[in-house]
Amino acid sequence: MKEKELWNLFQSMTLAEKLGQMTQTTGEYFVGKEFAEELVVTGPAMEEMGFDSENIHRVGSVLGVSSSQAINAVQRAYLEKSRLGIPLMFMHDAIHGYRTIFPIPLALASTFNTKLIEKVGHLTGQELVATGIKVNFSPMVDLVRDARWGRVMESFGEDSILSGRLGRAMIEGYQGSADGTIGKQNVIACLKHFVAYGAPDGGRDYASVDMSKKELFGFYAKSFEIALMAFPRMVMASFNSFNGEPVTASSYLLEEVLRQKFTFTDLLISDWGAVSELKNHGIAANDKEAGYLALNAGIEIEMVSNTFLKYGEEYLSRKPSLIEKINQAVWDFLNLKNEFGLFEHPYVDENEEQKVIRSKKIVNAACEISEASCVLLKNENDLLPLKKEDTLLIIGPFAKTQDLLGNWNCKGKAAETISVEQGFKNLASNVHAYKYLDEVPEELLEKSDNVLVTIGERWDKSGEGHSSVDLEIDTAQQSLIYDLKAMGKKVIGLGFSGRPMALGAVIDDLDALLWTWYLGNEAGNAIANLILGIKSPTGRLAMSFPRVSAQVPLRYNELGSGRPANDSTYSSRYQDLPIGPLFPFGYGLRYGRVKIAKVELSSSVISDDNPLNISLELTNNSEYDTSESIILFMEDSISKIVRPVRELIDFQCIALKKGENRKVEFVVQTSDLAYINNEEKKVFENGTINFYINDLNKKVANVEVQNRREGIYK
Ligand code: IFM
Repeated sequence: MKEKELWNLFQSMTLAEKLGQMTQTTGEYFVGKEFAEELVVTGPAMEEMGFDSENIHRVGSVLGVSSSQAINAVQRAYLEKSRLGIPLMFMHDAIHGYRTIFPIPLALASTFNTKLIEKVGHLTGQELVATGIKVNFSPMVDLVRDARWGRVMESFGEDSILSGRLGRAMIEGYQGSADGTIGKQNVIACLKHFVAYGAPDGGRDYASVDMSKKELFGFYAKSFEIALMAFPRMVMASFNSFNGEPVTASSYLLEEVLRQKFTFTDLLISDWGAVSELKNHGIAANDKEAGYLALNAGIEIEMVSNTFLKYGEEYLSRKPSLIEKINQAVWDFLNLKNEFGLFEHPYVDENEEQKVIRSKKIVNAACEISEASCVLLKNENDLLPLKKEDTLLIIGPFAKTQDLLGNWNCKGKAAETISVEQGFKNLASNVHAYKYLDEVPEELLEKSDNVLVTIGERWDKSGEGHSSVDLEIDTAQQSLIYDLKAMGKKVIGLGFSGRPMALGAVIDDLDALLWTWYLGNEAGNAIANLILGIKSPTGRLAMSFPRVSAQVPLRYNELGSGRPANDSTYSSRYQDLPIGPLFPFGYGLRYGRVKIAKVELSSSVISDDNPLNISLELTNNSEYDTSESIILFMEDSISKIVRPVRELIDFQCIALKKGENRKVEFVVQTSDLAYINNEEKKVFENGTINFYINDLNKKVANVEVQNRREGIYK
């Protein structure tokens, strides 16, 4: 539609029609039981939303409807009774794939590979487009430090630069561009959840968040600031309150920070029911007040509650200037619909979906990405890889199951998922899988020197609303490991979970351990490829693993202490636990070695006009064509405020052929070394900066910061 026509349409809209565009509901109002299976519910049932037959045909968008047939049916039922014929826009949560399921985001983060993440976004987008879905509620770049929170599985881990950059790559993959332009063959990314949702009190989902501005801007908002550089066309406000103010009603966070400071200019949507839930936060007496607060704070689409449409007219009598916000939101939304050509083509071609979903290209990519997402945590005496000819005995709850998709598995099907057993059987002939040890024939057990044990927690133990205090594997799994060890077996763990688990009780009894998270449809193939050495593991942890549950929250970038942890009693440690996490952020082994050598700095000083080049040489001494993630950490030796003991400032994932030698370069700007203080100012000081590469404890170089006055940084 030409802009003039769109403008005329906009001008002809009544206030109720405009408020309808700002309202999003679920699909069940439009289609009957026929499509019940295609209506994905991702939040609590709301009591009567109070739509009358006229208003329901004014809403602007619908979430959670999947399959092209269901989407067309909803669109048809809607348009038949819509006065202006403005088509609905369909939105969904394809968090790690739509029908082809990729690894959960926390696993994806272990790749440290922006190109792979972009690919996941692009391929997921292709399946969504073919289905008729235009907006994906992804990526989530909430920073996480507390493995008790069930939603850590949806995150990119505990570092804001890693989360932000992977989020940015995923947005570029969905939207098909780096500047926010959307092709008709792409989907809109909805970046979420702004902001600090990943820091709920006690790791309990939806709990409140209280933190300093230094913490907010230095960490939790920073991942958003970085991801926003890819211009996601939508942002979702978070459920939580922040320093006493629910984000959904916070003009400070939504207008001052998101809009003005971070210059976000596109659409802002609430989370499911979050507008109405302002009552539960105790800041609104009723729905009417809740909607007013949210509208006033800048929410432009209200997800699964109905206050704007019901009370909008009253809001305008109370504050006439709100019409500007309403007009802006509606105009932007109509433009977005128009960018997709929705007015001309409100329906999707139902033949396309079958051609695109689970195409060979997508499934192959899922396998490659799954391999890159696994993290080898232990490999005593190079026990792994095993050989195809070995007797491959696999035991435990995840040995035979196809339930390996992970939570938020959208339209993925367990039946289309490769189990661990099947993955090995695809490559080897002497494969035996059992759920329980006592099912294993004695003779087989006797001749198996190595046993693969599958451990972890079920996929539905993590995800939204699935916070948990117990991060240990259950006692049956522990006994399985102890029993096999007592029989003199070499025990190889395969880990499955949506969060870091506390493995302190079993780690000494495991000879090797590959953490596989939830990898999605290709799980079994990827795991077998790694265990049998067809590929080498390359993943590194994006979130620290605790020793015991009570050790969380945990993060590599904790602030320094006056009494840092050491052997003495009066130091910052638990007396009944060794110091530090079981496996820290960035940890990950491989088969064979990629050697880092010749770390060189271009200068011994760094200043604004003279950025620093750090170069190093990588040599792939392994037997594999592989990749290596190089993570550059800094440590500020002296500063005016207490800074993290280590901070990631850059990372690269480098592909290396067998035997290949490559030079890698990092360019460090002075702004990379700055910090945010409590006045929200970026501060940079003279002094010595130490650098670490991959190993948090091995200093590789240091540089003097000079020619730079102390103080506020531009
Ligand atoms: O996108 C999600 C969000 O992450 C949590 N609440 C429901 C939304 C829509 O499904």
